[in-house]
Amino acid sequence: MSLNKVVIPVAGLGTRMLPATKVIPKEMLPIIDKPIIQYVIEECIEAKFSEIILITHSSKNSIENHFDTSFELETALEKRIKKSLLKEIRSISRLKTNIISIRQSEAKGLGHAILQAKNIIGKDPFAVVLPDRVINKNKCDMKVDNLSLMRRLFLEEGNDIILLEKVLKKDVGNYGIAKIRKDGNKRRFIKDIKEKPTPKNAPSNLAVVGRYIFKADILDFVDKNTKKNREIELTDAIKKYISSGAEVQASLLKGECFDCGSKQGYFKSIIETAINHDEFGQDFKNILKKYSS
Ligand code: G1P
Repeated sequence: MSLNKVVIPVAGLGTRMLPATKVIPKEMLPIIDKPIIQYVIEECIEAKFSEIILITHSSKNSIENHFDTSFELETALEKRIKKSLLKEIRSISRLKTNIISIRQSEAKGLGHAILQAKNIIGKDPFAVVLPDRVINKNKCDMKVDNLSLMRRLFLEEGNDIILLEKVLKKDVGNYGIAKIRKDGNKRRFIKDIKEKPTPKNAPSNLAVVGRYIFKADILDFVDKNTKKNREIELTDAIKKYISSGAEVQASLLKGECFDCGSKQGYFKSIIETAINHDEFGQDFKNILKKYSS
């Protein structure tokens, strides 16, 4: 079985990050010197996904432009003999992956966004990576990252797989929350899942991080139409998929994942990335020390 496709839904309006996202896509907000989407796509490439499918919106062209060649910029950098910058800029448009985009003309939710890729997915398994969640590579003490590990598990065992992390009970209302069971080999499987429950109704405090690997069959369980003004949720499809007998494994997040769709999470990602920056890390630490004394 091959697993090459990853769907990244980028059509969302980013209302939690307004007013910054009135004109700029939330995925293009920078964490120090790279836009959020670049960290996410680099994570996919590291996990060896070779086909990236962006589900996008007319207001988000800058995302595609960022990964395209900029002839004018490259020529200017060439003339000014800025070799290392030129190399870095060129590498963004020469990634070891194909990026294609599909428009989601109506904002009908995450399930609806994924469904837009149905024809391209065909019968192949695929990953879904949510772009407002950025894995903190500095806190990842493993040799392989979370998405690579999920991919390896899927290819070895063939079960759909979702990444979960423990969150505070008070925060469960921001996430999909899963109840898990363990089998005889201590493998974790999802038993139940609820989208943004109240702390009282939450089946646990294990939240869906935004990294999933599915077989194409899941798409048959995504609602085609919205009901009672609710969005078409991926979580509802997962719930129905499990009820139909599908085995969906749970992988627990190693390290940390920033929620860059929230102002606090985004701020944290900036601080962490700054102090661990190869070139300017020490400078940033000195600046922070000045402010904390
Ligand atoms: C989405 C998913 C949710 C998941 C979350 C992770 O929610 O629906 O299950 O836990 O992403 O960030 P959203 O943040 O788009 O409202």
